[in-house]
Amino acid sequence: MKMISLKPHIYRFDDFKTFAKEFELSGSDLVLTHEFLYRPYMEALGLKCTFAFQEKYGSGEPSDEMIDRIIANHSLDSFDRIIAIGGGTVIDIAKILALGGVTKSSELFEKHISPVKKRKLLIVPTTCGTGSEVTNISIAEVKHLHTKLGLVGDSLYPDHAVLIPKLLENLPYPFFVYSSIDALIHAMESMLSPKANIYTELYSTAAINKILEGYAEILEKGQEHRKNLLENFLIASNYAGIAFANTGVGAVHALSYPLGGVYHVPHGEANYQFLIEVFNLYYALNPNGKIKELIRLIAGKIGGAADGDTFDRLGDFLNDIIKAKKLSEYGMKKEEIELFSQNVIEKQQRLLVNSYVPIALPDIINIYKNLYQGVDL
Ligand SMILES: [Fe+2]
Repeated sequence: MKMISLKPHIYRFDDFKTFAKEFELSGSDLVLTHEFLYRPYMEALGLKCTFAFQEKYGSGEPSDEMIDRIIANHSLDSFDRIIAIGGGTVIDIAKILALGGVTKSSELFEKHISPVKKRKLLIVPTTCGTGSEVTNISIAEVKHLHTKLGLVGDSLYPDHAVLIPKLLENLPYPFFVYSSIDALIHAMESMLSPKANIYTELYSTAAINKILEGYAEILEKGQEHRKNLLENFLIASNYAGIAFANTGVGAVHALSYPLGGVYHVPHGEANYQFLIEVFNLYYALNPNGKIKELIRLIAGKIGGAADGDTFDRLGDFLNDIIKAKKLSEYGMKKEEIELFSQNVIEKQQRLLVNSYVPIALPDIINIYKNLYQGVDL
């Protein structure tokens, strides 16, 4: 049984300039980033790289059309390296740009062609959530199918993951929170995944500890205090990435996909709405397994007894960080409860197999009902 893989080399730098020097950024590099990161951190260095701003090719989460527009606008074969500096969208796109022979990216996501690595891939995450800098997965919406598809394979692994905490200093509070809650969910789902083992748990438990400790400090000292904790959160996100790259994520991610897909709720925010309900269901279905360890770990950080109420208390704790919403607030309609639940069963088995215990259609319908009607997390 394979215990753990960690393919990319991991680096940490004080600032972008040191990274650029160390990695000798040059004219043979295509840097995919955002203008709001380029102006303060990169422009003054006068680098010879080609810079592409993701927002010029479409907004929101990645899609095949967005990727194809970037491919069409650059002769990729003239670059030796793809450097992604951004959040989940930039990273997922960059993983495709590092492949050879792609003109229509939907062919990859629909498995008509196989991914073949052509260029080196460097990833510099600028949110503290995706962990995608250490995973071999890229997810994009395939527009003509109206659905998100995942592409998984060794050729999607980055070569280098580069952590520069300073690049997160302008991350607005909601982005900081939703991305770090996503990392917390990666770690919690990884810990209870049937594929978890003592190696992956080293990373998942360390990530949970760091994130909950950080939130406790923010609750005590205020939102601005997060700026002193960026390195901790970036590392926690990276740890959670290493954990879930080896175990997968489960039902929280599965249930959030229809909400993200139909109502364009950003990934971390969508996941957050389902976190407590899913873990309460896990506890109800099997209170005596590994979940006891997770409950002890969480109770140790947020206080109170380690018992069946711990996840509700985690919900209260997180609500003080940022308020969870009712699904109806996103525009979701009552008739979609059944529809979304069916969709999860039909389309998200790749994630549901990583659930702590098997969950069935009536369980999923119940969760949507509870959250739709606005039971507070
Ligand atoms: Fe996620």
